[in-house]
Amino acid sequence: MKILEGKRGLIFGALDEKSIAWKVALNAHEQGAKFILSNAPIALRMGKINELAEKTESRVIPADATSVDDLNKLFDESVKLLGGKLDFVLHSIGMSVNVRKGREYTNQNYDFTIKGFDVSALSFHKVLQSAWKNESMNDYGSIVALSYVAAQKTFPDYNDMAENKAYLESIARSFGYHFGNRNKVRINTISQSPTITTAGSGVKGFDTFFNYADKMSPLGNASAEDCANFCIALFSDLTKSVTMQNIFHDGGFSNTGISEDLIKEFTS
Ligand SMILES: NC(=O)c1ccc[n+]([C@@H]2O[C@H](COP(=O)([O-])OP(=O)(O)OC[C@H]3O[C@@H](n4cnc5c(N)ncnc54)[C@H](O)[C@@H]3O)[C@@H](O)[C@H]2O)c1
Repeated sequence: MKILEGKRGLIFGALDEKSIAWKVALNAHEQGAKFILSNAPIALRMGKINELAEKTESRVIPADATSVDDLNKLFDESVKLLGGKLDFVLHSIGMSVNVRKGREYTNQNYDFTIKGFDVSALSFHKVLQSAWKNESMNDYGSIVALSYVAAQKTFPDYNDMAENKAYLESIARSFGYHFGNRNKVRINTISQSPTITTAGSGVKGFDTFFNYADKMSPLGNASAEDCANFCIALFSDLTKSVTMQNIFHDGGFSNTGISEDLIKEFTS
């Protein structure tokens, strides 16, 4: 059985084949969904999204997720092109200008901070508000954004993205209330293990905390493919009562104090 048969969606954030959104799109296509792919105009020029569109028989509509006008047009066009309201949306968007420009957490450029916040966190509210005002979601739809455990615990080099992720997770709870109440639409964030992608690898010391998390997690780091599987489960009708949650998809990392692998490493 294809669990997304007959469902329509919108997937933000597929840049190249390493992107988590890329794997979600391939999986959603296999599961019978029809969807629109969207990314920032500059990412469309630099990335390979047309390749993905061909593979998944989907259309691409550019939108800067910080622009309310772009988002309104995107939701409107998506509903028209797909022939009906949407059943699922994936927000897989993140970028810190401070991280990109090598600014430490204790030496932020606040223009960079505000830009990164707009792209990584506020854009989620803008996406939701646009879907809300345009009445673009079908009842019992599902909306998912991707987060990271630095919202709860400190990872020094994750920098201002920690605050962005905390805000993102809070939006899922607050908007989840309103969208649930009006349309039974559920909104969740998935807190994913470190994953080798363009955004992930941009964080200083990424290899170290990728390997550390892998050794700390009883199941090892969750792969991008497994993350895609989990997104599909949340889009499907099998999770109709799950909403306003931040769900750790991290092989057990977030609840592990220390692992035997790490004990061995520190025992002389
Ligand atoms: N890679 C990891 O280790 C990891 C771990 C946990 C959570 N996440 C989260 O997963 C999500 C996807 O990231 P990824 O790892 O697949 O990396 P990625 O670099 O492939 O995806 C990030 C996407 O954000 C898009 N984007 C940036 N600015 C935008 C804008 N203004 N408008 C629209 N789109 C814009 C980029 O073009 C890109 O497609 C992000 O929210 C990221 O923080 C990643």
